[in-house]
Amino acid sequence: MTVLRLHLLGSPLLRQKASPVATVDDAVRRLVDDLFETMRAAKGVGLAANQVGVARRVAVVDVGESDPPPLVLINPRIVSRSPETETAEEGCLSIPEIFGDVERAHTVELEALDQEGRPYRATLSGFKARAAQHEIDHLDGVLFLDHLSAVKRGLLLAKWKKSRKGKPGYLKEVVPEPAGEL
Ligand code: NI
Repeated sequence: MTVLRLHLLGSPLLRQKASPVATVDDAVRRLVDDLFETMRAAKGVGLAANQVGVARRVAVVDVGESDPPPLVLINPRIVSRSPETETAEEGCLSIPEIFGDVERAHTVELEALDQEGRPYRATLSGFKARAAQHEIDHLDGVLFLDHLSAVKRGLLLAKWKKSRKGKPGYLKEVVPEPAGEL
């Protein structure tokens, strides 16, 4: 497994709509493994292929529970959203140090393929539902910033630009931290 470089805000890949996976083959399975490896090294709870420069509809979510196991989302599709929503703070590995309150459906039902290419359906709620909605947004070129008011987005973008001063480009090497760190 490989820790891949992250694409940060400014990368055109983050605004690209990813293409569906035609066949879940070894290359796709390797991509899933690398997404998990990169997400864990970066201490994230989810990662979409766009964020490592691959515009294919593949994402992973791991909110830290072993049962059920972490989610592999290949060609995911949200089939229903609860009318009930929840607003909570979100961040993104592609926009480090920037956080905003995002309103999301509390519960979603989704369809996707797993790492073996088998279709499945899952009902998620709370934080896991939030993470899945965030990752599926990535596959459509949508970032959490897009869900904020124009004023809030403007403030966060100004903060982001300031934090990126003197750091050219939009690729970030992920350096895994020693085990035990939060
Ligand atoms: Ni993200």
